[in-house]
Amino acid sequence: MRHFTTVSGIQNYLREQKLNHNSIGLVPTMGALHEGHSSLVKASLSENDITVTSIFINPVQFDNVEDFKRYPQTLESDLIELQKLGNTVVFIPSQQEMYPEKTILRLEFGSLQQEMEGKFREGHFNGVGIVVGKLFNIIKPDKAYFGQKDLQQYAVINQLVKDFSFDVKLRCMPILREDDGLAFSSRNQRLDAKGRTEAIILYKSLELAKDLIVEKVSIEEIIVKVQNLFGQSTVDLEYFEIVDPVSLMPIQSYNTQTNIALCIAGRVGKIRLIDNMIISK
Ligand code: PAF
Repeated sequence: MRHFTTVSGIQNYLREQKLNHNSIGLVPTMGALHEGHSSLVKASLSENDITVTSIFINPVQFDNVEDFKRYPQTLESDLIELQKLGNTVVFIPSQQEMYPEKTILRLEFGSLQQEMEGKFREGHFNGVGIVVGKLFNIIKPDKAYFGQKDLQQYAVINQLVKDFSFDVKLRCMPILREDDGLAFSSRNQRLDAKGRTEAIILYKSLELAKDLIVEKVSIEEIIVKVQNLFGQSTVDLEYFEIVDPVSLMPIQSYNTQTNIALCIAGRVGKIRLIDNMIISK
């Protein structure tokens, strides 16, 4: 596996690969890799000649300095995992390399950032858009891989690609879950045993809401039932939204033809977790 820490180093290498007509898949990550990331790397390896996995904890997308400082860093085991998977290239730039100067550009994603993460994490999607845009320009991938767990992030990146005409095909890969249903997340590593047990309420809520949709229960009632479930738990419900999977706008009613995304965020102590489930017809 090749390692690069500089923009010029990886660009020189990839220029040669492009000349040899090798296709390039990009898996952008912030490290602390888990099975969800591994599934992205595997998908990229199966669809491209070269897979570049980037590991960069992007300060610009954190609205909270403490959250940034506490973000898990497991570079050594990440590299072992990538090597095992057969990943081709790893790009591990420093902050100075990615942001030699303070970024002035601000990205605003309109209604896509109005709800959910955008509402609770000021400036988050600007930061995601900036770093992903930089990575697309540096790597120039043919395909880029993201997880459905960050559904709103995917919608924002899709908009970024359209608005800047990036020549890249996006792939949104399914959520991977632990045996009890908890979605894999780098933040799960920070949960203690009690928190880990309690965190399952996010998935339970999504399952409950899905069953209620089958029973044709109204949107208002579903929301109240999920709120009541959290009432019996120590996990703080930050939001539970029933939205259109593409526009991410809340839906007020539904029928058998309506595509629905159930999106949830909660705090287990100081650890913020998100999850979602798409019900498509
Ligand atoms: O999903 C993530 O890990 C990050 O938001 C991303 C896409 C790597 C950008 O920093």
